[in-house]
Amino acid sequence: MKVMVVGGGGREHAIIKKLKENQTIEKLYALPGNGGIARDAQCVDIAATDLEKIVAFAKENGIDYAVVAPDDPLVMGLVDELNAIGIPCFGPDKKAAIIEGSKVFSKDLMKKYGIPTAEYETFDNAEAALKYLETSAIPVVVKADGLALGKGVIIAQTREEAFDAVKSIMEDKKFGKSGDQIVIEEFLTGPEVSVLSFTDGKCVVPMISSMDHKRAKDNDEGLNTGGMGTVAPNPYYTDEIAAECMEKIFLPTMNAMNAEGRTFKGCLYFGLMLTPNGPKVIEYNCRFGDPETQVVLPLLESDLLTIMQAVTNETLADAEVKFSDGSAACVIMASDGYPASYEKGFEITIPDEVADHVYVAGAKLSDGKLLTSGGRVLGVTAVSKDLKSALEEAYAMVDKVKFDNAYYRHDIGQKALKALEN
Ligand code: AMP
Ligand code: GLY
Repeated sequence: MKVMVVGGGGREHAIIKKLKENQTIEKLYALPGNGGIARDAQCVDIAATDLEKIVAFAKENGIDYAVVAPDDPLVMGLVDELNAIGIPCFGPDKKAAIIEGSKVFSKDLMKKYGIPTAEYETFDNAEAALKYLETSAIPVVVKADGLALGKGVIIAQTREEAFDAVKSIMEDKKFGKSGDQIVIEEFLTGPEVSVLSFTDGKCVVPMISSMDHKRAKDNDEGLNTGGMGTVAPNPYYTDEIAAECMEKIFLPTMNAMNAEGRTFKGCLYFGLMLTPNGPKVIEYNCRFGDPETQVVLPLLESDLLTIMQAVTNETLADAEVKFSDGSAACVIMASDGYPASYEKGFEITIPDEVADHVYVAGAKLSDGKLLTSGGRVLGVTAVSKDLKSALEEAYAMVDKVKFDNAYYRHDIGQKALKALEN
């Protein structure tokens, strides 16, 4: 089989490494991939958002199956276009990807179908939003409707910050058209859990739970990032909570999308907060999370391609989806300064003995050398019998990977370890 994976980050590297375990795949392409992925797949220099070129490439190269990993091409409708020329895909079509593409859509969906989430109002003009904020509870959360590179959520601790958030999104158009509408919602508290799931529109099969670490600095300080590390499973997510989420959130979401004529097939990501009033949805993503995938897939014992094809063929109920009962930890090594400004172009050395555990995100090959080319450079994942040893092994491997300017958090998993002690 010839398989292509669209995307070029650490998440795609994890998907590709897992797919490679399947012996029926004779050719694996990454579009565009990156300098590290080049070790595991043939990288093709086509941007993940260049739908026209991707479709042409797939046609010319006889692609049998496509995995569309990032949000943008999913929301733009790449799966629809590939399906139209007869190429089966893993990933939702455009109609279903809106669950991530529009926060107004997802909030209204949850309200209509009684799925627990933060109370909210939506606005399409700044004046009304500012008036609402004059009397709203504080802190309050302001969200741009559309995709905003993970930066469209502002947690305002003061009324002034909330006003500024509305002005920057709606008047200064900080996120372009993504800010034509906004959601203003209640500030929730509690531990956060990421649950990625496979769904074919007939059943939902949750993957092992995980915990992201979004802030740049130790002790959850500093700016919000795309994620500085992850652990799986998430100790806050007990079997009891999992059962409650299945009943009140996962199945109702699948059924709601079916009822709206927007059947979701692919990886549906539930960003949950375990509030004092029960689990609530913070966000949906229409794809695998990054860096959640880098801890979830290494724990998957079943064959990924077989599961993906079962999702496509709507036979997921018959597929084996089995996870190891160990733990995984991923530490992201970034360029110092990320998510603000940083230098790049430094050579990366990854010793052979750890290469299998490294998921490369921001690196390019230049004259045979691997050079840093992004903020999040790579992730190092260890799988072990328990979280404590997975963390020790991950940090021991981090010590062996070298590049100038490397920055990483030293406390990934500490909160999870404490939760396990209690
Ligand atoms: P998102 O970009 O939607 O993943 O949101 C980024 C982060 O903002 C989430 O991971 C939460 O930590 C936080 N957040 C989003 N919505 C809320 C809310 N209603 N209450 C508290 N925190 C929130
Ligand atoms: N790690 C959060 C996300 O992928 O959106």
